[in-house]
Amino acid sequence: MGEFFNPVNAIFGPGSFERLPSLIAGRSYAVVTYGDSYFSSLVERLEQAAGRAALVVNNVQANPDFPDVKLGCEQMKALPQLPEVYIGLGGGSAMDTCKALAVSGGNWPLLKEHLETGGERVDELQNPSIIAVPTTAGTGSEVSIGAVIWDHENEGKWGVRSPNAYADYAVVDPELMLSLPLDQTISTGLDALSHALESIWTDKHNLVTQPIAIKASRLVLENLPALAEDLGNIDLRTNLANAAMLAGIALSQTRTCIAHQCSYPLTMYHEVPHGIACGFSLPMVMEWAIGHDDMCDEGLVEVFGEDLKAGHKNFEKFMDDLNVSRDPTSYGPSQAEWNGWLANAVAGAKGQSFLGKVLI
Ligand SMILES: [Fe+2]
Repeated sequence: MGEFFNPVNAIFGPGSFERLPSLIAGRSYAVVTYGDSYFSSLVERLEQAAGRAALVVNNVQANPDFPDVKLGCEQMKALPQLPEVYIGLGGGSAMDTCKALAVSGGNWPLLKEHLETGGERVDELQNPSIIAVPTTAGTGSEVSIGAVIWDHENEGKWGVRSPNAYADYAVVDPELMLSLPLDQTISTGLDALSHALESIWTDKHNLVTQPIAIKASRLVLENLPALAEDLGNIDLRTNLANAAMLAGIALSQTRTCIAHQCSYPLTMYHEVPHGIACGFSLPMVMEWAIGHDDMCDEGLVEVFGEDLKAGHKNFEKFMDDLNVSRDPTSYGPSQAEWNGWLANAVAGAKGQSFLGKVLI
């Protein structure tokens, strides 16, 4: 039995950013983005074409934290009326913050309770228009329901659990990604690869998600090394942007799996960027995945070739060539700590959905 549902209208390809004014269509809008000058200039470009934004929230940081989201809510509350459209402009952190603010209606206590209780008061959340405009090729947040918000003070990681957090439109313009530096290009590319491969080795994979995940995996593997050498290449950027969107579509159905579950402590305690934290372990997880499920094996063969042992070796070399260490201890934890996180991950829901056999 399989299921597929994704309500996001996607507009993609170089120049898509120009479509934003017609999507806003004269409605009042908020932009949620980063504070750097590159993003200020994008907001300016948008305002010149679409009129002034009712609100610009530009305090977004990597791994959005409770105090930052609370501040955004307060800015919304101070407005005479709430904006009709919310535009998340940036990487996953900006899009996720945008989604959280949009559904909050500026009501921080409500949003906080919804997050901390794992989904209560969902019926009270707002449902305004959301337009997600990624400037990295990785997270897939533009086409998925997820909106991850961290509570660093209390070591919490929460998610908005409402279909209202789906964007109405994803506007995926690879031209916005041209100036992304090397380290973020690699980490976000590995995040996209993680979403694609995790969609293959989870028991939630199905007839629709599998070919999407295969295509996304191949696009990253074939294009990321070349892009790392040629960051301003629009064709390679387009291939990665497409890969991330496809991986996000697969992920929106299957959710992520064990590599993601093991990544969270690395990000929480050792500040490892999300894409590296889940990407570095992919060759290890692939080895555990092989030989336990026919559909998973077939998917891996489509990605890595008929000889999966040789494919696995090539995959290790792919990471080594990108200078991404495959050793968990190189990121900070001891081997014993890592093994503990792995054991916890295996016992959790994401670990249970993993089709392979974890060897600790
Ligand atoms: Fe991810």
